[in-house]
Amino acid sequence: LLSTQIPEGLKRLPGPKPLPIIGNVLELSANPHLSLTAMSERYGPVFQIQIGMRPVVVLSGGETVRQALIKQGEEFSGRPDLHSFQYISDGKSLAFSTDQAGVWRGRRKLALSALRFFSTIEGSSSEYSCVLEEHISKEGMYLVEQLSTVMKANGTFDPFRHIVVSVANVICGMCFGRRYSHDDQELLSIVNLSHEFSQVASTGNPADFIPFLRFLPSRTMKAFMDMNDRFTQFVQKIVREHYISYDKNNIRDITDSLIDHCEDRKLDENSNTQISDEKVVGIVNDLFGAGFDTVSTFLSWAVMYLVTYPEIQEKLHQELREKVGMDRLPRLTDKSNLPFLEAFITEVFRHSSFVPFTIPHCTTKNTSLNGFFIPKDTCVFVNQWQVNHDPTVWKEPTDFSIERFLNADGMSINKLEAEKVMMFGLGKRRCIGEAIARSEVFLFLAILLQRLRFYQKPGQAPDMTPEYGLTMKHKRCQLSASLRT
Ligand code: HEM
Repeated sequence: LLSTQIPEGLKRLPGPKPLPIIGNVLELSANPHLSLTAMSERYGPVFQIQIGMRPVVVLSGGETVRQALIKQGEEFSGRPDLHSFQYISDGKSLAFSTDQAGVWRGRRKLALSALRFFSTIEGSSSEYSCVLEEHISKEGMYLVEQLSTVMKANGTFDPFRHIVVSVANVICGMCFGRRYSHDDQELLSIVNLSHEFSQVASTGNPADFIPFLRFLPSRTMKAFMDMNDRFTQFVQKIVREHYISYDKNNIRDITDSLIDHCEDRKLDENSNTQISDEKVVGIVNDLFGAGFDTVSTFLSWAVMYLVTYPEIQEKLHQELREKVGMDRLPRLTDKSNLPFLEAFITEVFRHSSFVPFTIPHCTTKNTSLNGFFIPKDTCVFVNQWQVNHDPTVWKEPTDFSIERFLNADGMSINKLEAEKVMMFGLGKRRCIGEAIARSEVFLFLAILLQRLRFYQKPGQAPDMTPEYGLTMKHKRCQLSASLRT
């Protein structure tokens, strides 16, 4: 980038001076979301660092991020060819691969319509308003039972260990039409490695940029490869079974609907088969992978905040008691009646910012932002953590306060404030699972809060320090819960 000619009228990107070979990797530290936030205070909302020999542009500030991802969305919609990404879903991931724009767009459209088909709310006359609600309600109740059983046997439980199976079961139900027991070793061996996956696929992992680091022995990298292999085999086995039992007149789940799409194309002479069958059906890899780790990490954080702020937990329970009662399960349609719960969810998203960066982007052509020149194929990091903690936007950003999202009457959500929180990216690469994720976090939390009271063992305050990754996790810990009557 340094040797690139800057077009007239445009400025060269500011940023720290890189060292030879390693660039600015030492300054990234163990917490790139914090070090890059500190750099944005010095260099502004668009600056450049170098990781190894590769220049990377870092974006901060709500307005700049909106300008890049929405107003100039097309130019910032690519993905960089990073080393670790080639191992995810055999290099054929919708979210991480460098698919050509046309192929990515086609796959994204198919994924969105498959998700919509199984999660659109169709009125509330039947017991459940959609397949998604049915899965979440049932898994929510299994989770309450499971936690009570473990409590009776051991007196404490590890929240992530149980939440992750329940959340994985919701997405397994949608994608594959099946669920797994909380002790299923095959499922556990995949969901329990999500931690290593998250570390290797994190934004700014030096091994993605500096080739010689890839040859050093690394336990985390081995676990990452292991998880990708197991994950691919797990999904491939289920897909093969679906091909055998597929029946055009009985589409059972998302895998069937994707197979159906491929079969339809074969009958249509004019169809455009630019995207291989393998890449169409491979979409379930992305939905399953993105669908369990993000939502379970959120819910696990939410339980940690409930335990840390027992007075907020009581307030949320009382709201459910008053607005829903104790005689029926909460439903998705209760959402607009539960402003405290919605404010709590929004504040957990903002305060934890557990997806600190979007997945890295890449410019698709020469472009400029805020008057700075950015060449084609430049890797771009988007710092969501900074947007959610920007002191020019948030009063006391380090405080955990659900009031910041309530209107002055204290009884309704301040939508304008809530929309400033950034967790799902924006624009063309925005998360396609957002609606599903929001339904899941709302309904799981509502069920847990209605039925259980969470607490820590006296003198054992949970450690809330996040461990950096694609999704940041809290340290695994033991909590307790009692049933509400
Ligand atoms: C992409 C966040 C749940 C599927 C993303 C991105 C973020 C994100 C930050 C990257 C956006 C970008 O690169 O600009 C979250 C959070 C979730 C969540 C915070 C839960 C709380 C889900 C769920 C699914 C899903 C439940 C699927 C059922 C995807 C896919 C992409 C994506 C397929 C890639 C989109 C693309 O590259 O075009 N998500 N996500 N996510 N998400 Fe989510």
